[in-house]
Amino acid sequence: MAGLTSSEGAGPGPGAGRPFPANRVTALLGVDIPIVQAPMGWIARSQLASAVSNAGALGIIETSSGELDVVRGEIRRMRELTDRPFGVNIAQAFVRDPAIVEFVVEQGVRFVTTSAGDPTRYTGRLKDAGLTVFHVVPHLAGALKAVDAGVDGLVVEGGEGGGFKNPRDVSTMVLLPLVRSKVDVPIIAAGGIADGPTMAAAFALGAEGVQMGTRMVSSAESPVHQNWKDAIVAAAETDTVFLNRFSRPGLRALRTGRTERLERLEDIGPDGFGAVMDLYFGGDMEAAVPLSGQVAGRIDDVRAVRRIIGDTVAGFFATIDGLAARYGSSGGAPGGPV
Ligand SMILES: Cc1cc2nc3c(=O)[nH]c(=O)nc-3n(C[C@H](O)[C@H](O)[C@H](O)COP(=O)(O)O)c2cc1C
Repeated sequence: MAGLTSSEGAGPGPGAGRPFPANRVTALLGVDIPIVQAPMGWIARSQLASAVSNAGALGIIETSSGELDVVRGEIRRMRELTDRPFGVNIAQAFVRDPAIVEFVVEQGVRFVTTSAGDPTRYTGRLKDAGLTVFHVVPHLAGALKAVDAGVDGLVVEGGEGGGFKNPRDVSTMVLLPLVRSKVDVPIIAAGGIADGPTMAAAFALGAEGVQMGTRMVSSAESPVHQNWKDAIVAAAETDTVFLNRFSRPGLRALRTGRTERLERLEDIGPDGFGAVMDLYFGGDMEAAVPLSGQVAGRIDDVRAVRRIIGDTVAGFFATIDGLAARYGSSGGAPGGPV
């Protein structure tokens, strides 16, 4: 494991307290820091999302669990736990209830990400209701279609990320600059981002915000069982598998005995998912599929959300300042000493 550099045990790192420059994502989301916590079924609920929003970034509440009554309560709880903005994700493949748009609008939410489905389906209705809509895209064609549908922005998600994936996965390093070169809307990059250097890299490739999934699953405030967090910390960068490569939905998950067996199947089928609750909250890592991204190989500890956000911002500034000092116009002369 390479390990993330951080200000561990040393108080706030360099750049702490330096305001993040406003951009289109901070303006549209109403946040100080353009970091978004990924929507994740059963995980992206008020305990985690409020910690993220209270740290100045954007917490998101999931709907992919399909448990809309519980989600309604979680949104109510968010209002008790934070007075900062937060958003909701509509994972279209999982919430087929046509009333989902009305549900989200009724909750008074201002920001929505739509994912796992056709952007023409809900964008118009959500926009008509006055919401800001970002659609999650895994390829350029999806990005162009979403922009045509009238979204305010895109979450551009590389195939190294955890969770449900297009089986024809494209890495963030390729997808992000490609989409950036073809569209003008603001982009939030997802897939492989867990710290300042990766956030700075995403900005260099055209993003104005980043979304973190695996880093947030393994945060102190994440509600999942400690065994899953420990497995992320222990994982090498090679310790994820891609399931359903030749069917749908594609999935990226931690390598376990179960997922190694499923990796060989053409279609893992409904039984492949297993007993989600036994894994998520019971800690039985073989009971289901522990969705996680390759960046697990760079996560070395379980950290409080506030520290993840603070370290990421500090690392972002350290990275861009370091590059400017080394390669900027006032830096060393071309061809000069290293
Ligand atoms: C456990 C887990 C559950 C996820 N569930 C969802 C979901 O419900 N909706 C969605 O749009 N993305 C979902 N994703 C994908 C994330 O939103 C995010 O884009 C991805 O994790 C980013 O890559 P990273 O894991 O490298 O940070 C999930 C990811 C994980 C790890």
